Amino acid sequence: MAEWGSSEERGSGKDLGSGKGSGSSRDSGSCRGSGTAVGRSGGGEPTGRAAGAGPSHSRNDRHRTGGCGIRTVRKGQGVTEQGTGGGGFAAEEIDTSRPHPARMYDYYLGGWDNYEVDRAAAERFIEVIPDIRPGARANRDFLLRAVRKVVESGVRQIIDIGTGIPTSPNTHEVAQEADPDVRVVYVDNDPIVATHAGAKLTNNGNASFLLADVREPERILAHPELRRMIDFDQPVALLLVAILHFIPDEEDPAGIVAALAEALPEGSCLVLSHGTTDFHSEAARAAADAYKNATASVTLRTYADIVPFFDGFELLDPGVVQVPLWHPDGEPPTPAELARVGFYGGVGVKGGR
Ligand SMILES: C[S@@+](CC[C@H](N)C(=O)[O-])C[C@H]1O[C@@H](n2cnc3c(N)ncnc32)[C@H](O)[C@@H]1O
Repeated sequence: MAEWGSSEERGSGKDLGSGKGSGSSRDSGSCRGSGTAVGRSGGGEPTGRAAGAGPSHSRNDRHRTGGCGIRTVRKGQGVTEQGTGGGGFAAEEIDTSRPHPARMYDYYLGGWDNYEVDRAAAERFIEVIPDIRPGARANRDFLLRAVRKVVESGVRQIIDIGTGIPTSPNTHEVAQEADPDVRVVYVDNDPIVATHAGAKLTNNGNASFLLADVREPERILAHPELRRMIDFDQPVALLLVAILHFIPDEEDPAGIVAALAEALPEGSCLVLSHGTTDFHSEAARAAADAYKNATASVTLRTYADIVPFFDGFELLDPGVVQVPLWHPDGEPPTPAELARVGFYGGVGVKGGR
């Protein structure tokens, strides 16, 4: 059973994490995947040719040449998914005609793995919400602090859905700092994330990547690789960090969370963050338009909309808060810093602590 600390610690609002800084830097490693192939598992995205407007950096040439050996799942494991046409994604399938949320987020974080179409859409968002960059950074730092916290509590298995393009440190790196035996399964529906997974996410024995869509929770849960990696008799940390705002109401995000949560044993936890209109209101709504032509649109939600995603979980202190307020490393954020962040986040424990 995971240990969530004393009530005194819980109520103190101080960081129960390792005390390490959450500062992160962009990963600049080269492409060196293990080349194990797996196919598309989820509904996937419409695809087009990876030509035209090029990426911002020559490293990205590998997306066009296919030099990276995409679809790596787990080093040394010949995992190939069924029903995928056998070979999984070709590099040509990466769609550069429309902005991708993962590549826009990469741009906000200062990364290089984005194309002109992503940068143009991201710049439109930045025009309306100039604070998206510090907001994205704050969201990423929340993810890292939350991962430290759940691993320190004793959880040894993580499913990270909506992985994003690798950004150092990644979930498994932070988790495995505490215990190299922590197992992490990454899930994302963006083939460009898959292209990077082999080099930067699954380059150790305890991490896997599935190209799958959160809108198909049953399919994710039934996936043989997930079943091989995750023991559903032991607590699991489910990460849904900055992904649910890509799921519109009509696709039932609460139902998706509930379906995933149902598979988890008691003592498991949900780490969730979500973009909100609560702080930038009209501007945030206007900015969401920048995602209109993207492969996934954005539905920003209010505090009252977001808290129910934790149904069935007991929220750890301090509850659902603006992400910099969740167990900050060091000094708490100033009001001016907080005003720049349009993300709520929280961590809940299934069945209580
Ligand atoms: C904003 S990034 C968040 C990355 C990381 N979780 C973080 O917070 O730093 C959102 C990620 O969710 C992925 N995503 C969006 N819709 C998805 C879906 N329906 N299924 C799986 N992944 C999805 C995107 O491809 C992208 O990589």
